[in-house]
Amino acid sequence: MLSENATILPKTQVNFDPKPVTLTVNGIDRPLQLMPWVSLLDALREYIGLTGTKKGCDHGQCGACTVICDGNRILSCLTLAVMKEGAEITTIEGIAPSDDELHPLQKAFIEHDAFQCGYCTPGQICSAIGMLKEGHAQSRAEVADLMSGNLCRCGANSNIIDAIMEVKEGLANEKQ
Ligand code: FES
Ligand code: FES
Repeated sequence: MLSENATILPKTQVNFDPKPVTLTVNGIDRPLQLMPWVSLLDALREYIGLTGTKKGCDHGQCGACTVICDGNRILSCLTLAVMKEGAEITTIEGIAPSDDELHPLQKAFIEHDAFQCGYCTPGQICSAIGMLKEGHAQSRAEVADLMSGNLCRCGANSNIIDAIMEVKEGLANEKQ
């Protein structure tokens, strides 16, 4: 409760209008009119209609909203869309090499039974692509650690790590 002598601040008299923003998503430029506070997650799902990226917590705690931005994995719920004009954004809809071919991680997730409800899966796969590119994970334990920001409520974590390890080992063999 305010005390009797508390200062009452004046109301802010600022009107906000949508601003033009062009996002490049999966190689396609998407011109939008967005308020400055619209998250990248909402821009993808609500304005562009790419609903593969999932909203779990909307607070940076579950990883369901992970997308790839300029090659790095980011949480789209904690990113303002207007900050990403000019960036190359890749969502789960854009990771397969063609309409007829899945990404190796998509194949491995199927082979290893790495999803149940599938809600966390787009974020898991985008996060795994970014993690493998980072090149820090050398062991199964490190992969598990570096994927720990992506939660799976169904408990498919061990199969998810199996799938990622298979792709990681395949990449390592390719380099030899
Ligand atoms: S929805 Fe972004 S981290 Fe949970
Ligand atoms: S498969 Fe259901 S949350 Fe991960």
